[in-house]
Amino acid sequence: YTVNIDASDISKGTYPYYMLKEIDEQPNVLRRLVSEYMNEDGSFNFDPKLIEALREADKLYIVAAGTSYHAGLVGKPIIEEVAKIPVEVELASEFGYHMPLLSKKPFFIYLTQSGETADSRQVLVKTNALGYPSLTITNVEASTLSREADYTILLHAGPEIAVASTKAYTAQITIEAMLAKALAVVNNVPGAEDFDLKYQLSLAANGMQTIVDAKADLEQLAHEFFANTRNAFYIGRGIDYWASLEASLKLKEVSYIQAEGFAAGELKHGTISLIENGTPVAAIITDKETASHTRGNVQEVEARGAKTLKIVSEDLAKPGDQIVVPTLDTVLSPLVSIVPTQLLAYYATLQRGYNVDQPRNLAKSVTVE
Ligand code: G6P
Repeated sequence: YTVNIDASDISKGTYPYYMLKEIDEQPNVLRRLVSEYMNEDGSFNFDPKLIEALREADKLYIVAAGTSYHAGLVGKPIIEEVAKIPVEVELASEFGYHMPLLSKKPFFIYLTQSGETADSRQVLVKTNALGYPSLTITNVEASTLSREADYTILLHAGPEIAVASTKAYTAQITIEAMLAKALAVVNNVPGAEDFDLKYQLSLAANGMQTIVDAKADLEQLAHEFFANTRNAFYIGRGIDYWASLEASLKLKEVSYIQAEGFAAGELKHGTISLIENGTPVAAIITDKETASHTRGNVQEVEARGAKTLKIVSEDLAKPGDQIVVPTLDTVLSPLVSIVPTQLLAYYATLQRGYNVDQPRNLAKSVTVE
């Protein structure tokens, strides 16, 4: 089997590092996914047998590791809200050995950029043995998990070479949203037509472009915000909490700053004890329902000396918010809210003089359990 890769895809071109190139590619990846999978008449280019198999399930189990797991966490509210199908998201390295009581008709979705992660594969081997249907969503054609699952959807993100995953995350969320919409349409879910995914994705692609075009500002901000710190926090609620987990993973993977994502409402139940004078706390605020609560949490940490940064969607922005991202349907907001955090991680790492494409101790795909 041969896989066609365009040589220009694997060259850095004018970029100093792959990570920056891959962050910049995100608007185009989104547009490519729209043209690959969404037809003019509103239908989707997915295997009809896959859609049938998904319809028959009473629960979807998303199994993944690392950044792909974080994309799965975002997929759950998208699929539950749009398609009204219950979803569980599981860490591959836990799930295979401690399988919970499964629903009667489970369907397994394996999210894996490389298609080679051993932790995810051992779960697939088990669910195959149990006879459960499966889909692998991967960036690599003919990869192990793609070959061993019943169905495959490709991410079409082009080779991702930097160890820290960026464009695969936003591509995975995009595919999850497309599956959610496709299922909502075939199941006649009330209100499905109000979720105008094509329009949302065009807003997202344009929004991503605006953010990557402002990278000089983010470089400056990274310098001011993360200078001389050993730790940092991202906080958020709901969908912004899931984005916070990925934002902090990105930062810790490449800059070695001890970064954690926390549910903003949980700060007061323990974590706030970590706040000292000058501790950086970044808040992601894109959900109207919880915005004022999260702003309250920002004030609480400021009162204890934290240095704060707000990443806010346009509709909720207030004077003084440092990063404003375009407003999307709330469940899709990580498509844009994550992009500034990727750039902040990138620049914080360069400022510390580390190799952003190849962080110590990490590998692009991990083929041991
Ligand atoms: C490795 C990489 C991570 C990645 C994880 C899952 O640990 O360093 O960036 O998120 O594997 O990889 P996958 O290819 O399954 O998405």
